[in-house]
Amino acid sequence: MKHIGIILNGVTGRMGTNQHLVRSILAIRDQGGVLLPDGSRLIPDPILTGRNANKLADLAKAHGVTRFTTDLDAALADPYHEIFFDASITHHRIPFLERAIAAGKHVYCEKPTATEYAEALRIAEVAEKAGVKNGTVQDKLWLPGIRKLQLLKEQGFFGKILSVRGEFGYWVFTGEHEGQPIQRPSWNYRSEDGGGMIIDMHCHWRYVIDNLFGNVTRVFCKAATHIPERFDESGKPYDCTADDSAYAIFETDTGVTCQFNSSWNVRVRRDDLLTMQVDGTEGSAIVGLRKCWAQHQSVTPRPVWNPDIDSPIDYYANWTEVPDQLHFDNAFKIQWEMFLKHVASDAPFKWTLREGAKGVQLAELSIKSHEQGRWMDVPAS
Ligand SMILES: NC(=O)c1ccc[n+]([C@@H]2O[C@H](COP(=O)([O-])OP(=O)(O)OC[C@H]3O[C@@H](n4cnc5c(N)ncnc54)[C@H](O)[C@@H]3O)[C@@H](O)[C@H]2O)c1
Repeated sequence: MKHIGIILNGVTGRMGTNQHLVRSILAIRDQGGVLLPDGSRLIPDPILTGRNANKLADLAKAHGVTRFTTDLDAALADPYHEIFFDASITHHRIPFLERAIAAGKHVYCEKPTATEYAEALRIAEVAEKAGVKNGTVQDKLWLPGIRKLQLLKEQGFFGKILSVRGEFGYWVFTGEHEGQPIQRPSWNYRSEDGGGMIIDMHCHWRYVIDNLFGNVTRVFCKAATHIPERFDESGKPYDCTADDSAYAIFETDTGVTCQFNSSWNVRVRRDDLLTMQVDGTEGSAIVGLRKCWAQHQSVTPRPVWNPDIDSPIDYYANWTEVPDQLHFDNAFKIQWEMFLKHVASDAPFKWTLREGAKGVQLAELSIKSHEQGRWMDVPAS
């Protein structure tokens, strides 16, 4: 059994606390670590770092973590800490990663890795040159719904996949009405703080599309800031300077056309907060976060257009839910386990900073497409 010191930076926030500290690192620690090829177990030993000692102390206490500090340099100087992880707000990511790489740490971080492609690529190169192992969170790939979709695809269920329609989003309260508080941090709606729907979500759509449907080759995007003013955590009004919705079409090198609507200003009447409808010549599927429903060609109903009568067909019938064949672990935890094995035993790990940079590239080109009102090529990188 071996312990590995991991610096968890910026984990007092939503993602850091829930997904990375509690549901990944502590869950891995509590299950007795990860199994390495030599039969030994690697146990993560976190130290929490951040700016606010009180917040860190509260978080540590709440979850039985013994080590925390506001002195990041001291944590970085300690060779026991082999991995640095960052879940702070996007704008701080690159400087933190640079410090960690300079200290010889392996680095892993939330997406997006930067708000500009050049910077995202640069930090990937800095890590590669330094010879440290590196990774970017690409959690959606391990969502149960997406893994079920992957199974259908691998078994040839779809025939030739034609198109994908992604619907993502929900209503994020503005903070304007008492009793309906905001449920996402306000920095997400200010571009000067690294916020914006495109930079947030097109990073995800990039790796989802590249890994499942084909490499993205072109993008057309229309962005909007539908709600110009929101209220922050202290109840103060602020101007929304970032896009809160994006309507995009992505072309791929396989010919599959993918269309994604992403919005914080929609009320949900669909199966989940993210759904993708995948249509193929032999079958279709609707994919949510955890569930997946499939309809084969053989049971596809035969609609006839007639608006003068109520539909004789229940369009929700004739879909079969793909059953849970296994226990699906938390998506972030699965990727953490892979990264730990990559660091400790050189196991392959595909989701590097360079892969993460591709997401930033797509976000940047989506914004350009919106600004210039035209299709943008996405060069292979
Ligand atoms: N993978 C996903 O699905 C997903 C989902 C949401 C957010 N994210 C990403 O995770 C990151 C955090 O988002 P969030 O929603 O948790 O935000 P958040 O505002 O809840 O948390 C941000 C964290 O950063 C910390 N922080 C801010 N400035 C800092 C500084 N100077 N030094 C150290 N810490 C600092 C805050 O104290 C807090 O702990 C963002 O980059 C976001 O894009 C990823």
